[in-house]
Amino acid sequence: MPGQRPLLSNRASSDISGERDIAEEDALLTGRPTQRTTSGPRTWKFWREIGLFVWAVVATALVVILAVVYQQSSHDSRHSSPHPTGKRNLIFMVSDGMGPTSLSLTRSFMQFQNGAPFGEQLVIDQHLIGQSRTRSSSSLITDSAAGATAFSCAKKSYNGAISVTPDHEPCGTVLEAAKKAGYMTGLVVTTRITDATPACFAAHVNMRQEEDRIAEQMIGDYPLGRVVDLMFGGGRCHFLPNSTVESSCRADDKDIVAAAKKNGFNYVDDRAGFDKLKGGAAVQLPLLGLFADTDIPYEIDRRNENDIYPSLHEMAEAAMKALSEATRDSDKGFFLMIEGSRIDHAGHHNDPAAQVHEVLAYDKAFTSVLDFLKNDKTEAVMVSTSDHETGGLATARQLHTSYPEYVWFPSPLANATASAERLAMNYATYLLTANPSDAQKASFIRSSLSSGLGLADYTESEVSALVADPSTSLYQYADMISRRSQTGWSTHGHSAADVNIYSSDPKAALPLVGNHENTEVGDFLREYLGVDVEAVTKELREKGAGLMVEEEGGEMVGWMGKVPEEGRGSMGRIMLRAMGAISGRGACFMVGTVGVGTE
Ligand SMILES: *[C@@H]1O[C@H](CO)[C@@H](O)[C@H](O)[C@H]1NC(C)=O
Ligand SMILES: *[C@@H]1O[C@H](CO)[C@@H](O)[C@H](O)[C@H]1NC(C)=O
Ligand SMILES: [Zn+2]
Repeated sequence: MPGQRPLLSNRASSDISGERDIAEEDALLTGRPTQRTTSGPRTWKFWREIGLFVWAVVATALVVILAVVYQQSSHDSRHSSPHPTGKRNLIFMVSDGMGPTSLSLTRSFMQFQNGAPFGEQLVIDQHLIGQSRTRSSSSLITDSAAGATAFSCAKKSYNGAISVTPDHEPCGTVLEAAKKAGYMTGLVVTTRITDATPACFAAHVNMRQEEDRIAEQMIGDYPLGRVVDLMFGGGRCHFLPNSTVESSCRADDKDIVAAAKKNGFNYVDDRAGFDKLKGGAAVQLPLLGLFADTDIPYEIDRRNENDIYPSLHEMAEAAMKALSEATRDSDKGFFLMIEGSRIDHAGHHNDPAAQVHEVLAYDKAFTSVLDFLKNDKTEAVMVSTSDHETGGLATARQLHTSYPEYVWFPSPLANATASAERLAMNYATYLLTANPSDAQKASFIRSSLSSGLGLADYTESEVSALVADPSTSLYQYADMISRRSQTGWSTHGHSAADVNIYSSDPKAALPLVGNHENTEVGDFLREYLGVDVEAVTKELREKGAGLMVEEEGGEMVGWMGKVPEEGRGSMGRIMLRAMGAISGRGACFMVGTVGVGTE
């Protein structure tokens, strides 16, 4: 609390008497006399000092005793056993690609938009407990796959690894172990449910690009059977057979929705279906909810399409409600992972306007989790962190060779009403369908700049650059906002920055206070739930030994798919194949894919 004095401070407020009191206090604590010479009989002042001394000793002793008793009791209830017996819930939140500067950016934007004072914080700001170091086994800069493997398996692995070790063996995950121990489990994301972060909790593949295979595993077609009770997110195209030409991105004709239903899943695939769940009260588990072909749109666009796509906090609330109802009569609670998946994509796109709305949506979901925990009686904790930073974001940008002014402007972010991704998709669709002349393109772009970005001051050279090179329009749109707000980016990829750790309860999450390796976050998750992840690793290796699956083209490979070839850009080749497979869907999808292959 700013301006509030420490509770136990009894120092006088005036500077002069303050100095004297410090000398007296020191004397009282050390037992040595003060330098001041006192003479005469023992006055009431002497007895007052004796009184103060006795009070200080008693008060100090009391504080020490209380602290010890408190520590003892909180130790007993939280940390006495690696295998806690009481019922507990664990909510793990992941803000993909959100570094500390994303918070500075979003906080200043929020204050600007709300006319709030500079002391106003985001909700998440008030729950900071530590930092995580994010390197993977293969690089100082991790990707989301190795990042999430550090959380799910508590092991470092290589970039691209979906819960497999560097020697390409499966490692058991906290979600799998939680399911085995009797917990209910859930995954809520805004990207494809087959994307790296959610995949790492309930699938094992050697290369993250194999999302078709990940979809099969997540619905239970792998050595452990079904382990996830609830999934909400996008990525429907990996579940539909390639015969559904418009909305499939599978390379084969397997119907994973049908397979999910055969494995017991209930299935919803649109807003109407989500609304019928009545905020989670009407959920029948297990449940698969896929609300977009690929990613759910950025919040800056989704908020105008609320009748099509549920928001992150709505999905999170429904999941918490459903899982707590389902475990009401159980002696085990639930494990739920909630991801603000596309903060990362806004970083890849270098789009600060899209990013602030993603972070605000995450803050809202964070608030929903705090509200749930406040009103739920089961012992629980929420931990929130990021897998890495994306974009090398800076709330500063030097635009010229001359020494820069110290300024950063949130207003250009507030003017934007659409993401650069959406504007680029609209432009690509226009080019495909209208076959326009250059003059028509220029007028299309002018209107997108004024209505989509809210830009009054765009230049003719900016317009003609967009006419000349539509393939980079996404980056061009994003750069126009970045320059005007003087937002800096050092990469379209990830960075090695440490990321923040937050918790609903710093005492329950005590092992994560301070600066930690990302694998220690994974250690905490399994220890909080008291589950045996090593036993799952053993079971996976035993049941998976010799288990082969058929690749496209008939080749037989191990159940976790092909191993990446050393030293070759396997990511790029797979992305090209994926893009080829969905080329029928046109430039829109390809524009939307920029940067997503490497998140
Ligand atoms: C769909 O998948 C099957 C194999 O499952 C394949 O033979 C066929 O060529 C695919 N069709 C398309 C249009 O890709
Ligand atoms: C933002 O919008 C306002 C109102 O339309 C306009 O005056 C201002 O110039 C815009 N900002 C930029 C950077 O174009
Ligand atoms: Zn990531």
